[in-house]
Amino acid sequence: MTRLVQLGGAVPAVAENAIPEHGPMTDGFGRRIEYLRISVTDKCNLRCVYCMPEEGLPWLRREELLSYEEIGEIVRTMAGLGLRRVRITGGEPLVRRDLPSLVRILRAVPGIEDIALSTNAVLLGEHADALRAAGLDRVNVSLDSLIPERIDAISRRPGSARAVLDGLEAAERAGFFPIKVNCVVMRGRNDDEVEAFAAVTRERPWHVRFIEVMPTGDNLGVSQDEYVSSEETLGRIARIGDLRPVAGPRGNGPARYYAFPGAAGTVGVITPMSHNYCGSCNRMRLTADGQLRPCLFGELHTALRDPLRRGEPLEPLIRHTLRIKPERHWLVQGSDEGSGGLRALSQVGG
Ligand code: 5AD
Ligand code: SF4
Repeated sequence: MTRLVQLGGAVPAVAENAIPEHGPMTDGFGRRIEYLRISVTDKCNLRCVYCMPEEGLPWLRREELLSYEEIGEIVRTMAGLGLRRVRITGGEPLVRRDLPSLVRILRAVPGIEDIALSTNAVLLGEHADALRAAGLDRVNVSLDSLIPERIDAISRRPGSARAVLDGLEAAERAGFFPIKVNCVVMRGRNDDEVEAFAAVTRERPWHVRFIEVMPTGDNLGVSQDEYVSSEETLGRIARIGDLRPVAGPRGNGPARYYAFPGAAGTVGVITPMSHNYCGSCNRMRLTADGQLRPCLFGELHTALRDPLRRGEPLEPLIRHTLRIKPERHWLVQGSDEGSGGLRALSQVGG
């Protein structure tokens, strides 16, 4: 049952759906929520063309950020309600000081089975071993090109390519497995490399996931003019080999996977634009300033930070967020319609 709640002022009505008030987290559409993406900073050391404006965005202030202990407290509460897996994101999470100590805190939470990190890998060479020792299970690395000059151009940070490629190697050496590589496909920038990326999976145990660019922040130029559908990407790759559907590596995500016969890795597609996968959504997001967000899109959120600092119980706020979790997003390719004014993913934790 859906109920519309007017929050007053300029805030639009929010749909509230009936949910189970006890037991594991379930939303109003019967989806079990067991995965939380945790953004630890909105800052980034790169400026990827599909993500951030070149000059950056207004950063959160130090005191606005959740401390690692506060994040631990929220995760402990949610783990008591059925949370099983977490992913640390940003911005770029490794620009925040001493990330291994957050991993140690999360590792100690009963019920949390899987801790992953999404990173651009620039600082991974420096931190991979310490993260592994702290108990991190897996990493996803953003890599939009195999050509160093292009990595520099897409990330708008000359010289970043060397660090990214070193970081990827460090992750493999440190024993992270499986390694997922995320590639946002853009016409005229890297779409001619999808076959080469796919070919890497024949030899290396990479799980390369091609992502359709979404309209976020002020990236409408890129998301409108350079969009490539996953169907087109798969069509190109199928020309160089016999691509078959496979189960894919362990994880939480909406990717669909394929592999060449006998390949060490897989090829995946993530299709936020062409195929909506909201029906199997299993996640919520925690922003760096402590908003619990039921959906990547739109502005719906519940502020947890200040109530937490006042010592108030979190469970009612978490249940409220489950109640307002929308059924799906309404993104429309070629416009920012339906994004609900989606902020840069660096601000909401991708
Ligand atoms: N569209 C698609 N994916 C995006 N990411 C960031 N912004 C976008 C966007 N507009 C993803 C990329 C990047 C990760 C941090 O978030 O995969 O590697
Ligand atoms: Fe940074 Fe990732 Fe955004 Fe690139 S996509 S600017 S690496 S947060």
